[in-house]
Amino acid sequence: MVNFSGKPATSFLLTFLASMLLITSCAKTPQPADSLYQQLGAAAGLEQLVDGVLVEIERDPQIVHHFKDTDIARFRRLLIEQLCQLSGGPCQYTGATMQESHTGFAITPADFDNLVNHFIKVMTAQNIPVASQNALLAKLAPMYKDVINR
Ligand code: HEM
Repeated sequence: MVNFSGKPATSFLLTFLASMLLITSCAKTPQPADSLYQQLGAAAGLEQLVDGVLVEIERDPQIVHHFKDTDIARFRRLLIEQLCQLSGGPCQYTGATMQESHTGFAITPADFDNLVNHFIKVMTAQNIPVASQNALLAKLAPMYKDVINR
């Protein structure tokens, strides 16, 4: 017969309440493991992301011409650094402002859309959750005005 007597039920209840308390208190304390940087796979994930985006840029006849005189190793390093800082990682971006670095390139809204789509494609291939993808894109969106038609 199943034992419904007081003691086990009480200790079960206490354990349950204790774990609920633990879950609630964890949810309130910001955990580095929850940061966007972690969701993007930290340093290794960001390197993989930027390398994937570089491949997509290279294959994209609409935008690749913008990069014909660019030092790609430097661009790669700075983009990783910038994404790391933007996502709350332990980095400080040391490159030029978005306005400075995009002036003279006459980048169009369609060019910007293409780059965003490359980010989405590569993040999806890396199994980054859609919510995390959107969180990164939301940080890039305000840069639009500094990148376009300069
Ligand atoms: C929010 C979107 C973007 C971000 C976060 C971003 C980020 C960066 C970064 C970090 C650099 C390096 C800055 C430096 O050299 O100090 C850079 C340079 C550059 N970006 Fe962007 N960029 C964005 C959009 C675009 C778009 C849409 C294009 C064109 C399709 C583009 C084309 C370039 C080019 C050609 C350079 C190199 C400039 C040079 O060679 O001096 N970027 N970008």
